[in-house]
Amino acid sequence: MITVRQVSKAFHKVAGHEVTAFQALEDITLEIRENEFVSLIGPSGCGKTTLLRIVDGLIPPDTGEVFVRGRRVTRPGPDRAVVFQSFALLPWRTVLANVEFSLELRGLPPAQRRERARRYIELVGLAEFEGHYPHELSGGMQQRVGIARALAVDPSVLLMDEPFGAVDAQTRQRLQEELLELWQRERKTVLFVTHSMDEAVYLSDRVVILSPRPGRVTESLEVPLPRPRLAQEVRRQREFIDLTNYIWESLRRSLTKHPPGEAS
Ligand SMILES: Nc1ncnc2c1ncn2[C@@H]1O[C@H](COP(=O)(O)OP(=O)(O)OP(=O)(O)O)[C@@H](O)[C@H]1O
Ligand SMILES: [Mg+2]
Repeated sequence: MITVRQVSKAFHKVAGHEVTAFQALEDITLEIRENEFVSLIGPSGCGKTTLLRIVDGLIPPDTGEVFVRGRRVTRPGPDRAVVFQSFALLPWRTVLANVEFSLELRGLPPAQRRERARRYIELVGLAEFEGHYPHELSGGMQQRVGIARALAVDPSVLLMDEPFGAVDAQTRQRLQEELLELWQRERKTVLFVTHSMDEAVYLSDRVVILSPRPGRVTESLEVPLPRPRLAQEVRRQREFIDLTNYIWESLRRSLTKHPPGEAS
């Protein structure tokens, strides 16, 4: 479904006459199957957000290519949607108008927009709040609006950048469960960035570990846990504990090998 082939990306910093190149991603190759749920985990600054933006088509890679369903990505398209870490809602628009916004951009006629937006607002449990403004919602509710907005365009690929990073632990767990239910119902292909090993293992079919900057794929681990996964039960299972410990160790090893900020 998604093919990332030998993608590299550097950013340039200009200070006076000096131009320094910062290699953010190096030779990333990834295959993601249709309906697969893949998490990306790696230290801060290793290029996770950059990779999502490249897959979305917001920025081009320096070398390498990305394909979605066999088509080369050159710009954002209706087959992909992003859920950002900070809620990125329009503060002057209500919940309904925020969700409709992504459909306006896609040129849907007003009546269809409204109907579709309402369906997804209901799906994320916010029907009562469609007339509220973002500042009148809790962090978890704002995050749900972000998810509804992404789902409303019915993308086949959902790109999520630490979507639950800014909410409290309980809300986070509830949102994780809701996301899994949605994913099971709607069958999307998900590329999910997180810093939480627990979250990565709980949600994913596969966890991909990136090295410190410049990000490279160091491991790709299948999660052997059956679905549906009940949050509490799954976390007590041996395989769950072993796998999160393994990821922890793997990240720690790569951090001692390449401390962040080390010249590349
Ligand atoms: N627009 C940009 N201009 C210059 N440098 C950038 C830009 N975007 C990202 N970078 C650099 O690229 C590297 C990777 O950044 P990125 O945001 O992808 O990391 P990340 O893995 O998402 O980190 P975090 O976990 O902290 O969100 C960093 O060194 C960052 O400074
Ligand atoms: Mg990031």
